[in-house]
Amino acid sequence: MSQSTNAWDEIFAREGRVFLEPHEDMPKVIQMLQDMGASTVLDLGSGTGRHVVYLAQSGFSVFGLDNSLEAMAATRQWLADEGLEADLRLQSMTERFPYEDGFFDAVVSVQVIHHADIATIREIVAEISRVLKKGGLLFVTVPELRNQGERFEQLEPNTFVPLDGPEKGLPHHYFTPEELQEVFRDYDIVDIHLDGWEHYCLTAFKEWATEGTFASPSGS
Ligand SMILES: C[S@@+](CC[C@H](N)C(=O)[O-])C[C@H]1O[C@@H](n2cnc3c(N)ncnc32)[C@H](O)[C@@H]1O
Repeated sequence: MSQSTNAWDEIFAREGRVFLEPHEDMPKVIQMLQDMGASTVLDLGSGTGRHVVYLAQSGFSVFGLDNSLEAMAATRQWLADEGLEADLRLQSMTERFPYEDGFFDAVVSVQVIHHADIATIREIVAEISRVLKKGGLLFVTVPELRNQGERFEQLEPNTFVPLDGPEKGLPHHYFTPEELQEVFRDYDIVDIHLDGWEHYCLTAFKEWATEGTFASPSGS
């Protein structure tokens, strides 16, 4: 398994936790998880742990995956400070995830999966789908397509690499709502909206199961 690091490793080494409060939608996500009786939750690209800690505090069995060593160390410390536990894996999301098929009741991933070209993002989404149960909940945020200016190299349509700044060298794919819907076309999308960070927030369920773990609210 590749543990190749990324520009965020240096950002976390320099600035520490960076993200302290949970994403603004996370209380709503927690409520949905509780309503569906969820237990196992993957935080893909868990960073320094704000959602790992928040989800563990809320009583879920939490798994975090990130390829930043600094992020892992900070998350372990935060969990220890709070007297909480989680399963943390140091690994790139571009490799096969270290979990069984259908293991998770939910996957959350905030400002992470866009750090790749679109072909790789599709592979990451396929891995998310592999490890998520039928009827499982997905909450993903990705940046909105906007004018990139001159300090970026364009790799392909809507994928740019910063030439300077803290995220220098790290690909960023920027989404339209239409592309987001297309990438997650196998999901029942219940909401897409912009957050205060110019990121689209997608809430969706993996195809409603007739024989899966969770039932449709309509009973269908
Ligand atoms: C903007 S931060 C968000 C962190 C966290 N999701 C949060 O909301 O606090 C982006 C995260 O993506 C992680 N990341 C970037 N590329 C990755 C990769 N190929 N595999 C795993 N994690 C990656 C970084 O290490 C960093 O933790």
